[in-house]
This record gives sequence, structure tokens and C-alpha cells, in this order.
Amino acid sequence: MKNEIISVEGLTFEYPDTAVLKDVSFKLYKGDFLGIIGANGAGKSTLIKLILGLLPCEKGSITLFGSEFSKVRSRIGYVSQKANSFNTEFPATVREVVRANLFSSKGLFRPFGKEDDKRVDEALELVGMREYKNKLIGSLSGGQQQRVFIARALVSRPELLLMDEPTVGIDAASVNEIMAIIQKLNHGGMTIIMTNHDTPALLKVSNKLLIFCEHGYEEFVDRAELSLERISDILAGKRVHRHE
Ligand SMILES: Nc1ncnc2c1ncn2[C@@H]1O[C@H](COP(=O)(O)OP(=O)(O)O)[C@@H](O)[C@H]1O
Ligand SMILES: [Mg+2]
Repeated sequence: MKNEIISVEGLTFEYPDTAVLKDVSFKLYKGDFLGIIGANGAGKSTLIKLILGLLPCEKGSITLFGSEFSKVRSRIGYVSQKANSFNTEFPATVREVVRANLFSSKGLFRPFGKEDDKRVDEALELVGMREYKNKLIGSLSGGQQQRVFIARALVSRPELLLMDEPTVGIDAASVNEIMAIIQKLNHGGMTIIMTNHDTPALLKVSNKLLIFCEHGYEEFVDRAELSLERISDILAGKRVHRHE
């Protein structure tokens, strides 16, 4: 059997005044790259938060690695928008920012050892930032900071990486570099879920798409079956087909 990473079934969610997700279902297997697209306010971030366990899943189900969330937390990494991810005035070095994400797997009071340093170096190497290890996070450019935040998510060696608009507010050259890094991780076997307002960029890297349409339903489709034109049709509310 294929290695199932996440299964979402009949997920429905509403905030007190706003119905957001209605009957969303999809499954991802190891090495899949899911791109989530849809207009502002469609519910993309809400879905990410539900998967991360930051919002309660009340109707429908989300199964990760065939288990409940509390047991698999350490197998999931998360990168948020650069703009709201960190107070960059904070006087921490790149290494400290990345290393801090090892706390969750170590318990708060165990000292860091050589093995931790190795993992930090490894994670920074993956994003091409190892030589910046001792620099203050606040002294880096936006694109460099975001690469450090990706390393921070990678240091715990996640099998599933969730990214909500990871390239917002970052200069175009850095966006390309960051997308290339993420694509490489994916080719190495990491399963990725990413929302991005830049649909063409997302189409280049993803093999599955979840498209939130104007009329409140969603389509889960294989990238190979779609062209940009058909995606515009779906976004505009023309239903194409649905995979169960
Ligand atoms: N904490 C919240 N309380 C109430 N409504 C919210 C909250 N967060 C988001 N919403 C509403 O839910 C809808 C979906 O939001 P969101 O998931 O952030 O959309 P997206 O990420 O696709 O732009 C929007 O209408 C938004 O205003
Ligand atoms: Mg959002």
C-alpha cells in the first residue's frame, strides 16, 4: 500500500459568524506536493490551522500518519508568512532561531549537545544559509530570514511540511530560490502542503491541487490533468470534476 500521509474527510468548519470550509476531502501520500489556491478569504489558512491542530476539527476528520495529532506532532513542520512569523528585532542569532525548534523534541531543560549543532548545521545547509549561522536574524534580508525559518522547520526533520504563503513580502529573486529549495526537499521525499497567491509558481512545483472556487465548493485534482486555463475556469466557479 502507498504510504498515506494525510487523509481529510468531510471536513466542515465555521467561525461563529462565517461558514468557511464545507465538506473538504483529500488524501496525500509520501512525496505529494499539494498546492492550495483560491481567493482571499476562501479558507486556505483555516485549513492549514485545522491540520496543525490550532483550530478544533468538529465536523469531519483529519488523520495524519494514520494516527491522532498529539502522537504525530513532531513529524510535522510549519512555515508561516515571513511578515508575521517572528519579531526580527529579537537579538537572536540564526543558529539560536533554528535550534529553538529542537526544544519540543528534547524537553525544555536538557542542554544542547553536539548532535543538536549537527542538526542545525544540516538544516541551514539545506537552505544555503550555513555560513550565516552566527549572524543576528535581524541583520538579514527578508528572503534570507525566510530561508532561516524554513531551516527552523526542517531541524526537527519533518515528514510533512506545511507552508502558508511562505513567499509573501519577499523579493522576486529570493522567491525563486525559496521555491527551488522547497522543490528539492519534495524531490527528496518530503510531503508538502503550500498555499500561495502566486498560482503559476505553485503550479510548477505541485502535483496535486486543492482549488477553492468562488461558489463555495472545492476541487481536488491532479496537476497533470489541468492547464492554467482550466484552473481559471474552476476558480471562476465552473465545475470540472471531482476525485473521491
Ligand atoms: N479567527 C477568525 N474569526 C472569525 N472569522 C475568521 C477568523 N479567521 C478567518 N476568518 C474568516 O474566515 C474566512 C477564511 O479566512 P482564511 O482561512 O484566513 O482565508 P484565506 O487564507 O484563504 O485568505 C474569511 O472570511 C475570514 O474573514
Ligand atoms: Mg491565508
